Amino acid sequence: MSSNGERKSCLRGEGVTKVFGIGNKAFTAVDHVDFDFKEGEIVSIVGESGSGKTTISKMILGLISVTEGQIYYHDEIRDISTGAKRKEYWRNIQAIFQDPFASYNMFYKIDAVLDDCLKMRGEGNLSPQEKFDRMTEACSFVNLKFAELTNKYPFELSGGQMQRLMIARIFLLRPKILLADEPTSMVDACSRATILDYLLKLRDEENMTVVFVTHDIGLAYYVSDKIYIMEHGKFVESGTAEDCILRPQAEYTKRLISDVPKIHEEWDLSTV
Ligand SMILES: Nc1ncnc2c1ncn2[C@@H]1O[C@H](COP(=O)(O)OP(=O)(O)OP(=O)(O)O)[C@@H](O)[C@H]1O
Ligand SMILES: [Mg+2]
Repeated sequence: MSSNGERKSCLRGEGVTKVFGIGNKAFTAVDHVDFDFKEGEIVSIVGESGSGKTTISKMILGLISVTEGQIYYHDEIRDISTGAKRKEYWRNIQAIFQDPFASYNMFYKIDAVLDDCLKMRGEGNLSPQEKFDRMTEACSFVNLKFAELTNKYPFELSGGQMQRLMIARIFLLRPKILLADEPTSMVDACSRATILDYLLKLRDEENMTVVFVTHDIGLAYYVSDKIYIMEHGKFVESGTAEDCILRPQAEYTKRLISDVPKIHEEWDLSTV
């Protein structure tokens, strides 16, 4: 936080636009969106299928170019023009995706997967004991036992274990920003609540900025400080979770909410 108690800007976008194709085939997937994600804030981007959520995520991650507009990281123009600068940026931003199977190299044993995280942090030359301690700590953060995982391959884990291992990786990598594209879609309601709790814990303990990408407005209400509602490539509404959900202005938001009849009860986790 800054001296006046305001949270500092972590990632900001101005007029961010993505056009795919050219000429009469051009299609604007993301259309002049503005956003400002603060340090330690939990933000959700909510919209229906095809609204442009993954496209904006990929621009934020620097995986695809921005057609127009500008992205600022910590109030400076984000520069990923060279391989080295991209690598430096990726130290600060990490993503977890819908399908945990797609996130691992299946031929790497789990110790190698976690060891890679330490290398990416520039901690590759810790002593074997220190490495073991860091990996054990990361696994216990998500209630996994490292000793039971060593020598296993990712495909030997259950879906839920794999998802928790993904969060253990994030714990080791300690990025400033974590972008999660429907991270809980594969798991049942109970592990879903657990995974959300781990992500909230990462924010609390590491002051991470967590960006959820989801079409589940109930989930967004439950976890977020701030919500951006996306329709046809535009942010049609944004604000605190309370303002967006309890006092929606845009017709589109009202419709999304009406699709979830009991938004409050549904996310009362005390009943899970
Ligand atoms: N590489 C591409 N070339 C052309 N059009 C694309 C490309 N990638 C995405 N689009 C189009 O951009 C629009 C937004 O796609 P995007 O994947 O961002 O949607 P989404 O909000 O993530 O949807 P979902 O909830 O289904 O994941 C879609 O109409 C899609 O067809
Ligand atoms: Mg998507």
